[in-house]
Amino acid sequence: MTDTLTIRRPDDWHLHFRDDEVMQAVVPYTARQFGRAIVMPNLSPPVTDTASASAYRSRILAAVPEGVDFMPLMTCYLTDNTDPEDLADGAKAGVFTAAKLYPANATTNSAHGVSDVAKIYPVLEAMERADIVLCVHGEVTDNDIDVFDREAEFIERHMRAIVRDFPSLRVVFEHITTSDAVDFVMAASDNVAATITPQHLHINRNAMLVGGIQPHNYCLPVAKREGHRLALRKAATSGATKFFLGTDSAPHLRSAKESSCGCAGIFNAPFALESYLTVFDEEEALEHFEAFASLNGPRFYRVPVHDQTITLERGDTHVPQTIAMAGEEIVPWHAGEMLSWRISS
Ligand code: DOR
Ligand code: ZN
Repeated sequence: MTDTLTIRRPDDWHLHFRDDEVMQAVVPYTARQFGRAIVMPNLSPPVTDTASASAYRSRILAAVPEGVDFMPLMTCYLTDNTDPEDLADGAKAGVFTAAKLYPANATTNSAHGVSDVAKIYPVLEAMERADIVLCVHGEVTDNDIDVFDREAEFIERHMRAIVRDFPSLRVVFEHITTSDAVDFVMAASDNVAATITPQHLHINRNAMLVGGIQPHNYCLPVAKREGHRLALRKAATSGATKFFLGTDSAPHLRSAKESSCGCAGIFNAPFALESYLTVFDEEEALEHFEAFASLNGPRFYRVPVHDQTITLERGDTHVPQTIAMAGEEIVPWHAGEMLSWRISS
């Protein structure tokens, strides 16, 4: 039995840091585990241009603890009015690594998102030309589409068209939750990849709805049926280069989660690697963990893998019930559980 695992330093290819006090509190958790992170732009107001992304990056860097090597990779929030020139200039200047497509009203702070994908075709053309990665929140938002079908429907309505019309555009299908998305990504060209969160590997929709409503298991896209979870586990642990780590860690304070209108998002940053590794261990696929966590993402984003390594070992990690934050508290993913791996160096 493998009891220790040394891998190249991993990256988180999908993450929410927020801003201000919460951002300052959560950055150290991510920087402890990951060398880089793709930082989501859904602040309020959203990060829609180079100047605001550059300023946000500086605020994040100021929150990285002394002596810790961590680089935030910034994204531009696409709107119906995104300026393709500013986006291309921002990428050229090294500010933007990717741009994020949120369908309007799909999730937290997405009211300014894209109302019709056709409206941003000129932006997608510019991104294809400038080789800027497109990150997609793949859910339709129409009221007549059941929330559990929104990802599969997005594939049919939009994903197929985007990859057909922009064959050279690199597209990340973010936080996939269905076997439909796994199949779509597997069948697509090498320019199409997907991130997978720890929660979608661990839970199905029962975890949200059985035994009373469980707000801390609620995120978007919502967890689906067991068959989908099993397809995601297979994809993530298969060694396929198209799937990589993206936590979608999305902090909301406890009062915002335990509310009559609770926010979507799971705060998994503190023990993300331990959570993923538990899954790879259960699937007897520890040998594929480094590819998923540390190699596939850099390869797709065309950035070097890290020289540094991190060592994980079999051993207890006790996840606290709550973590103090911003004068309140937050409930971490796996609250109160014991995980069977820990970071040793
Ligand atoms: O659960 C989620 N929370 N899904 C998202 O897409 C956004 C995120 C957030 O920002 O809270
Ligand atoms: Zn997200």
